[in-house]
Amino acid sequence: MLETEICGLKLDNPTVLASGILGNVGSSLRRCARQGAGALVTKSIGKHERQGHKNPTVIRVKEGYLNAVGLANQGIAEFGCEVATAKEGGVPVIGSVFGFSVREFVSVAATMEDYGVDAIELNLSCPNVGKAGAFFGTGEELTYEVVKAVKDSVSVPVIAKLTANTGDLVAIAKACERAECDGVTAINTLKAMKIDIKAGMPILGHKIGGLSGPSIKPVGVASVYEIVKETDLPVMGCGGVTTGEDAIEYLMAGASAVQIGVGVADRGISIFKKVSREIEEFMVENNYKSLKEIIGVAQG
Ligand SMILES: Cc1cc2nc3c(=O)[nH]c(=O)nc-3n(C[C@H](O)[C@H](O)[C@H](O)COP(=O)(O)O)c2cc1C
Repeated sequence: MLETEICGLKLDNPTVLASGILGNVGSSLRRCARQGAGALVTKSIGKHERQGHKNPTVIRVKEGYLNAVGLANQGIAEFGCEVATAKEGGVPVIGSVFGFSVREFVSVAATMEDYGVDAIELNLSCPNVGKAGAFFGTGEELTYEVVKAVKDSVSVPVIAKLTANTGDLVAIAKACERAECDGVTAINTLKAMKIDIKAGMPILGHKIGGLSGPSIKPVGVASVYEIVKETDLPVMGCGGVTTGEDAIEYLMAGASAVQIGVGVADRGISIFKKVSREIEEFMVENNYKSLKEIIGVAQG
């Protein structure tokens, strides 16, 4: 009943662990698969080890969570065993990659493919690292260049993770489509800041970070809706999914699957099972027989 497909990947259910949420250790990803995730996205990995930004890097705010981890990771050369462990979960593993140049994106994606991932997610949307992430995903030409170069170098599906921190998200999605991208994830965190008014200074070590959680869901849903309306790209919805109802909104906007990020902190690692069960209950109550009947229904 909950089976879905995204970019040729067959998922038993539409819940997917979002990138970076449980750090960069394969056993945490494997646990999510055992707790019902339909697929897993790894932490974004780059060419070289990075320490990331100074603490605090993640804080709870009343609107959700703010993070500026700064793409801390062990570097692609050290990541093979983590992919192997994640794959023991038995569900598709999507390797998230970032780079400071087109060449770095290509080289990390190629190694990620060698490690056996089922697809690549290009992080074109991190809001808190200068010349990586959103530096690429806010310009049509750079987006096209990265996607095209990676598409020419790997044979697994390539998914671009986009930011809504751009003037024209649909134009960026169309650039992905021109570069023959297999699909997109929308959206990453939104650029945000929290100020400690007693100290008179930003709380995050990096000052500016990205906002996650329920408050960004309406932005994510609108982004998915527009991309689905204006392109033929398969889309994974992301941003603020904590319940089955949230997931159904994304599916109705046209997403084929939904990624879950900080919801894991709020409802525990069994959130994947819980959201799947809630989607199923909604389907039974409303006479939907398969997810296909729900996907895109709000497009009219
Ligand atoms: C602590 C933390 C680390 C993250 N690291 C990454 C990352 O490495 N790559 C990436 O593409 N997104 C990263 N994200 C963004 C999430 O994958 C997701 O897009 C975002 O949190 C919105 O979804 P949510 O509201 O369900 O959390 C991170 C988010 C958080 C909170």
